[in-house]
Amino acid sequence: MKLPDIIIAIDGCSSTGKSTFAKLLAKELGLVYLDSGALYRAVTLFAQEEHLISRMNIIRPELEGALRSLPLRFSADNRTFIGDRCVEREIRTLEVSAQVSPIAALPYVRNFVDEKLHEFGRQGNVVMDGRDIGTTVFPDAQVKIFMTASEQVRAQRRYDELVAKGENPVMEDVVENLRQRDYIDSHRETSPLRQAADAYVLDNSDMTLSEEIAWVKGLLRGKYTIYD
Ligand code: DC
Repeated sequence: MKLPDIIIAIDGCSSTGKSTFAKLLAKELGLVYLDSGALYRAVTLFAQEEHLISRMNIIRPELEGALRSLPLRFSADNRTFIGDRCVEREIRTLEVSAQVSPIAALPYVRNFVDEKLHEFGRQGNVVMDGRDIGTTVFPDAQVKIFMTASEQVRAQRRYDELVAKGENPVMEDVVENLRQRDYIDSHRETSPLRQAADAYVLDNSDMTLSEEIAWVKGLLRGKYTIYD
């Protein structure tokens, strides 16, 4: 499929399968995939390692200054790095998931991440997933998709993902983490998670990944002159 220079913004709650979908979509369309949540996760990992966040989620004000010299980047194959260190595995643990929402609610953290996302997005031809891509980061994105799925389906996906990574999760903890994150993400003051008015809704509770891709390709075909 050959497309014009576009940004596809994919937003939605935790564990709706955004990144799996966005990654495959980018591959199929020859676009670059950018995972905005990875940057919030990397900031959280950094705050934990530098003891700038307590177990009770009390965040030290020094985090703001410390971010100025935090060298976050993506590699060409989409892995997240802090300087030369690949942190892809560490940022996906339940410990990071448990503290990422309060970190992502801080306006100075959002500004820091938004700057990086704008820098990465300037090249165009990207699929970016997150919570506020279609509303705040790229409000002019040509295609916006808002993903949803039932809580049960989302919890099972997250659980399976953690097991596949060798973790030993407890289902109740996974559900609790999802609920807490969704609540904080959609109730924070700065750029809360919400559906953009011009977003297409994709409820994938009962869909396979290939059905999702077929759905979005149909949508793109209706919008653009496409050459397969
Ligand atoms: O998509 P994810 O689960 O990896 O995102 C991790 C956290 O980062 C999530 O709890 C909310 C936050 N996030 C955000 O606030 N805005 C984004 N654009 C992406 C993620």
